[in-house]
Amino acid sequence: MKKSLSGIKPTGKLTLGNYIGALRNFPKMQEEYENYIFVADLHALTLPIDPDYLRNNTRDLVALYLACGLDPKKTTIFLQSDVSEHSELNAIIQNYLYMGELSRMTQFKAKSASLNQNAIGLGLFAYPVLMCADILLYDADVVPVGEDQKQHVELCRDLVHRFNTRYKKEIFKMPEPIVPSVGARIMSLTDPTKKMSKSGEKGDIYLLEDLTSIRKKIMRAETDLGSDIYFDKENKPGISNLLTIYASLKDISIKEAEEHFKDLHRYGDFKKEVADVVCEEIAKIQQKYNEIINSNLIDEVLKEGKEKAKSIAKMVLTRVQKAVGIYGK
Ligand code: TYM
Repeated sequence: MKKSLSGIKPTGKLTLGNYIGALRNFPKMQEEYENYIFVADLHALTLPIDPDYLRNNTRDLVALYLACGLDPKKTTIFLQSDVSEHSELNAIIQNYLYMGELSRMTQFKAKSASLNQNAIGLGLFAYPVLMCADILLYDADVVPVGEDQKQHVELCRDLVHRFNTRYKKEIFKMPEPIVPSVGARIMSLTDPTKKMSKSGEKGDIYLLEDLTSIRKKIMRAETDLGSDIYFDKENKPGISNLLTIYASLKDISIKEAEEHFKDLHRYGDFKKEVADVVCEEIAKIQQKYNEIINSNLIDEVLKEGKEKAKSIAKMVLTRVQKAVGIYGK
């Protein structure tokens, strides 16, 4: 069976963007793939974060994984920090990636731009190295992610090629990014030229946000002065973003969404319908989340996930250690 792996950083409140671009697609993978989904808690340390906030977000994220339909019988759910092989593989593969290529990563450039240039953490710079270790430790064939992570998976592909060529053997499996055809980049509702992010702005919708507040944000979403509803990213970024959200949640194409709204010439009515679909989906998630968050299920799932993940990771790490010449392996 082919393998799929992905993860999310517990750095903030999960957004509708995280959901549509990634999380929503994770349970679909468990039907066809051997599925690994983890909490990227070591990655969460690449920018300053309050320890209690990180702990709570980690628990929330596992509860949301389960609430969104991940089945622990079909998916190995675990914490990155529970499997020390991630750090051990990181220490080896960092020697096969170059500072030049890491400094060209879009996400590094964006995240470091606002920092004091003399105090950019090494972990932020080396972030994609650890991400390569995450992917390669499980021999992942596919990696479902939103558009902003595609470049990191492509870097991982370069690494695999470089490493396997050097050792003249298929040590690492070549992974393939899977990016949704609709909804790979959900934009902010207040500034549809900016990505929706976990940063806590008014234009972002959170999976654990009050439904009345979500509805208000959608009704106030930035649009243009026209009244027709069609997809035009350049001239109608706000409408295009709402159409994308609608199409993703309805599992239809943008064309079908345009067709659905073609006779509606009032943005207010359009937004109301988008808000209905978003609130309906999020209400279901919140209901399940509330059932799970205070139960023992979270710790049980993580305990079992750790064991399963560790047994696979160990095998792959040994294969790599042997290949590079670590004594006794
Ligand atoms: P993170 O936590 O920033 O985001 C989690 C997932 O959500 C997607 N995403 C979006 N999709 C659509 N629209 C948006 N506005 C949007 N914002 C975020 C991201 O593309 C991502 O898929 N580096 C990863 C975590 C990670 C990982 C890995 C992923 C660590 N190791 C190995 C896959 C494989 C990250 O920071 O995602």
